[in-house]
Amino acid sequence: MELKTLQFTVTNTTSGHKIGTLQIARPEALNALNKNVLQDLKLLLHDLETKRELRALVITGSGEKAFVAGADIKEMEGMSPALAREMAHSGQALFQRIEDLPFPVVAAINGFALGGGLELALACDFMFASTTAKWGLPEVTLGLIPGYGGTQRLARLLGRALAKRIALSGEIFNAQQGYEWGLFAHVCEPAQLMALAMKQAEILADRAPLALSWVKEAINHGGDKTMSEGLKLEAELFARTFETKDRLEGVQSFIAKRRPNFQGH
Ligand code: CAA
Repeated sequence: MELKTLQFTVTNTTSGHKIGTLQIARPEALNALNKNVLQDLKLLLHDLETKRELRALVITGSGEKAFVAGADIKEMEGMSPALAREMAHSGQALFQRIEDLPFPVVAAINGFALGGGLELALACDFMFASTTAKWGLPEVTLGLIPGYGGTQRLARLLGRALAKRIALSGEIFNAQQGYEWGLFAHVCEPAQLMALAMKQAEILADRAPLALSWVKEAINHGGDKTMSEGLKLEAELFARTFETKDRLEGVQSFIAKRRPNFQGH
């Protein structure tokens, strides 16, 4: 698989699990998501979904300035409404596949995370940010609205009042603000960002993989349901863990006072 706009590497953790690092690599355009990046992301996702060998993934941007500065504005200049609809549908589907990956995904925000860049991070499970992070949904300053899930995911994550404050103002916020609003799980110096995000990924890689995928499913999909439907989904997934060998391993290792070794089945 040849990826022109992404750098993807797989490393083994000390426990022997595989974690991936994905860098959006278009630094000359602050990693803006043009057609080539989106095409490469599709290829990579297909590979990750079919091989199913990763236990966690960290996504970041190349260079020191940006995570991702948004969808590519230059590609949108002559776009018709029909093409814009297609662009939004296809970007949304792609980010949905990232949200639905069966392992945890950590966004490491190393600079600008604007528009489609923030929307990419919102499809991840949580965000670590460097003190240089600058984030927001500036689409309204271009006469646009977010098109890759920003209005929906941000409102679900932070609530409608904050989502409106962010998306209606088009303001660019700093890392501290993101931390105070609960968007960023952790803020650190730029030099520490990747090490801390990888350490988090390594901890996640030691957890029971099927349990992680079902926590994601319960939270991501339960939130769209009524409380009683969400609880039903949770009970169903809870029961499913009792069909796994990892559930037995988890309980037995607790009783035997040893570290569990989860195999993902
Ligand atoms: N699309 C295309 N090119 C972009 C870009 C984008 N989103 N963001 C930055 N670039 C390019 C710039 O055009 C510039 O290229 P040239 O050197 O060829 O001119 C290069 O990256 C460096 O950018 P700047 O010179 O502008 O860097 P700066 O430090 O002065 O400013 C910035 C940084 C504030 C992030 C500014 O680049 C900026 O405002 N970018 C656009 C941010 C934005 O509005 N994003 C939302 C896009 S719309 C969207 O995402 C829709 C959606 O939801 C699907």
